[in-house]
Amino acid sequence: MIIFGATGDLARNKLIPALFSLFKRGQLGNKFYIIGFARREMNNAEFRKYLSYDHVSEWKKFISHFYYQQGFFEQEDGYKALIEKFHAFDLEIGACITRFFYLATPPDNYNIILDLLRKTRLSEGCGLGSSTWTRLIIEKPFGKDLQTARALDKKLSLLFEERQIFRVDHYLGKETVQNMLAFRFANGIFEPVWNNKFIDHVQITWGETKGVEKRGMFFDGVGILRDVAQNHLLQLLASVAMEQPKSFSKEGVRDARAAAIKAIRSIAPQDTEKFVVRGQYAGYTNEKDVQKKSTTETFVAMKVFVDTPRFANVPFYLQAGKKMPKSIVEISVVFIQTCHILFKEYGCPEVGNVLTFRIQPDEGISLRVVAKKPGVTLSLRTVDMQFSYEKDFGRKGAEAYEKVLLDIFAGDQMLFNRSDELESSWGFITNILQGWKSRESRVKYYEEGDWGPKEANDIIQKDGRKWL
Ligand code: BG6
Repeated sequence: MIIFGATGDLARNKLIPALFSLFKRGQLGNKFYIIGFARREMNNAEFRKYLSYDHVSEWKKFISHFYYQQGFFEQEDGYKALIEKFHAFDLEIGACITRFFYLATPPDNYNIILDLLRKTRLSEGCGLGSSTWTRLIIEKPFGKDLQTARALDKKLSLLFEERQIFRVDHYLGKETVQNMLAFRFANGIFEPVWNNKFIDHVQITWGETKGVEKRGMFFDGVGILRDVAQNHLLQLLASVAMEQPKSFSKEGVRDARAAAIKAIRSIAPQDTEKFVVRGQYAGYTNEKDVQKKSTTETFVAMKVFVDTPRFANVPFYLQAGKKMPKSIVEISVVFIQTCHILFKEYGCPEVGNVLTFRIQPDEGISLRVVAKKPGVTLSLRTVDMQFSYEKDFGRKGAEAYEKVLLDIFAGDQMLFNRSDELESSWGFITNILQGWKSRESRVKYYEEGDWGPKEANDIIQKDGRKWL
């Protein structure tokens, strides 16, 4: 595996730790090579030292599989040196070994890297004319809007066949997100009520207490709409909105997911302010590598509809933000309130039953129900029925990137984005971007530790509802 951008945050914080976990569990075997490709001058030993965070003997064994290639993304030399390295590895193993190209760089570099993979014919593997021995792994955001996403996809298709391309959205690899499918379709009791006759609305909250930290340069050019909403948030929405897949197969699941995303009603640019709130935390423009007059959003909230018979007229309220009061990702399905029919004066809660999927932390599911308080008079209160990964299974499950990597190695694309899915999500997001641009919609400020600007409450309160 060659990691372009091997000294970046993604490689250090997510990929390499996930590879190490797989290694410790014996899931990488012992014949593999990982080459870090980046700008700074280093040799293999220095690279290994640079990555070191653990001095246990297993780490030493693991890191001995790492190599380094200094190079500039836009210059051929580094790529040519890679060809020689691969050739030496092929000879060592005595076979044409599979090459995985992992683009873990800021997206601005994708085009040039792809051009040079093509020009130097690295993309063709060991040169036996067999392109099946290479795979390309590319991280979101794929492009900046519909047009650039299409252009990127076109370029990818010139170099690789669809089955070689792995477009990563690591939220699809999260245990709790994968469980949505099992929960909805392996339990007979939920499917009959999973529709607009029973569901009042859906809330999805994605919050992080941290700000942009060292990623100012990347984030400022992207914003949370592209960084999180276009991918993670819409995928969470799809996990609630999708129909039952025809089969539990790669294409079955991808078809169902793609259809859900396609059914999201687009927001016309002139309606953006009505349906979308754009926020920025106070002090964002003082962050390192952020433009002083930046209007990049660090928070977004929106009201969305999914135009399927199942969800017709059920609003989905979504919010995502940095510097939130809590690091939390949750989906809540709020059912229509029926308590008042019989028990109006006895303490009915404001909202009906709430089924909450805690994606992280404290992974699990809870169902809020109304119960009679113990005592001789009738008084009602809500209580939560709980399922917790840690309590019930004794562990949280694998890190998303472990699953992502194992699936790449196995060639299983079920949990990776297909190009039509991206086309639809970018279509939806691009309308919002255009709305913001054409109407010069102003960003609303919020203090660190608030759930976004006050307008984020208005968007739901004007419908007589509240964020949970
Ligand atoms: C990434 C975003 O995709 O997901 C980051 O680019 C965000 O901005 C990260 O911090 C969060 O991932 P996780 O797995 O920690 O929820």
